[in-house]
Amino acid sequence: MSDSFRLMLRALPDFPENLPAFDPASAPADPSDLFRSWLREALAAGVRQPHAFSLATANAAGNLSSRMLILKDLDADGWHFATARTSRKGKELSENQRAAMNFYWSEVGRQVRVSGSVVQLSVAASARDWAERPAADGSENPSWQLYAVQPREIEFWQADPGRRHIRHCYEL
Ligand SMILES: Cc1cc2nc3c(=O)[nH]c(=O)nc-3n(C[C@H](O)[C@H](O)[C@H](O)COP(=O)(O)O)c2cc1C
Repeated sequence: MSDSFRLMLRALPDFPENLPAFDPASAPADPSDLFRSWLREALAAGVRQPHAFSLATANAAGNLSSRMLILKDLDADGWHFATARTSRKGKELSENQRAAMNFYWSEVGRQVRVSGSVVQLSVAASARDWAERPAADGSENPSWQLYAVQPREIEFWQADPGRRHIRHCYEL
């Protein structure tokens, strides 16, 4: 049984043919510019939710948890996401500000990881995010919080059909 599962996993498709080219030598100096263009290219390649990412957090004892979230914006404050302060991740972030994000776009063989510390954005910005959600009904949610990851490190990873995968790292 476990053999057949292992073999089934082994036989699953790898990255698609015709992966995009990426030359780190001509990458923009600002990682936000590179991220915006990769996100647009992922969208054009058919990725349905290119703004979805995994966020890893840890509690004070260093026990980790991760979950998928949606990127809400990218600006001088950092990489925005929103959630309830009362959630597990909200509690972990109050104990330990460090977090790591990971975006993966299989259609283009690309991954972007971001790690750093997380700050809370304003009450007004949090309320606006709550009000703009698709199912908005005019309600308020005082525990809804807009956060921003302020990166220390951002790594762009491009799969290569010849397995010479390319990594391009920014340290901030
Ligand atoms: C694609 C995707 C996007 C999601 N986006 C969000 C989000 O933006 N904010 C949020 O609070 N939960 C979002 N969720 C739900 C979270 O993954 C998670 O289940 C929930 O926030 C509770 O997490 P926690 O118990 O670790 O705090 C999303 C789930 C998926 C699969």
